[in-house]
Amino acid sequence: MRCEDEIQQTFVALKPDAVERKLIGRIIQRFEDRGFNIIEIKMLKLSKELAEEYYSEHKGKEFYERLITFMTSGKIVAMVIEGERAINTVRKMIGNTCPYDAFPGTIRGDFGLYLPKNIIHASDSIDGAKKEIELFFDSK
Ligand code: PPS
Repeated sequence: MRCEDEIQQTFVALKPDAVERKLIGRIIQRFEDRGFNIIEIKMLKLSKELAEEYYSEHKGKEFYERLITFMTSGKIVAMVIEGERAINTVRKMIGNTCPYDAFPGTIRGDFGLYLPKNIIHASDSIDGAKKEIELFFDSK
């Protein structure tokens, strides 16, 4: 089995529902328990412009306006998480996009309600992580 170490950085955002429901500490604890380091973190309210840039690849989809309205409805917590194969592992930890389909034990499976209230976002690729980290931590 190939299981060499490979340190990666990924971008994670705790969505307005996670902040409103006071889940920030419990979710961050899960990542720290798994051995990841939170190397950047900030709380912010997304402007419509930043939300549209962040979700630009989904512009035109049926759910796009609902998603932008939700993501700008309250504060989010943006962070960069670093550790062994962080991109894939964090995606596994957050679970399926739709909370109904997310397995118990995953973050969305344990805390998510229904779309768009699925608690958390995490980058899905190396390129996506790079772009999102730049968007939230390098240029703003
Ligand atoms: S797609 O169409 O397969 O590319 O969409 P997907 O990758 O599953 O999701 C892209 C982001 O849109 C959010 N999403 C939704 N929001 C509101 N309503 C509905 N129906 C919906 N479907 C998907 C989803 O949570 C993704 O955002 P992030 O921030 O990555 O969770």
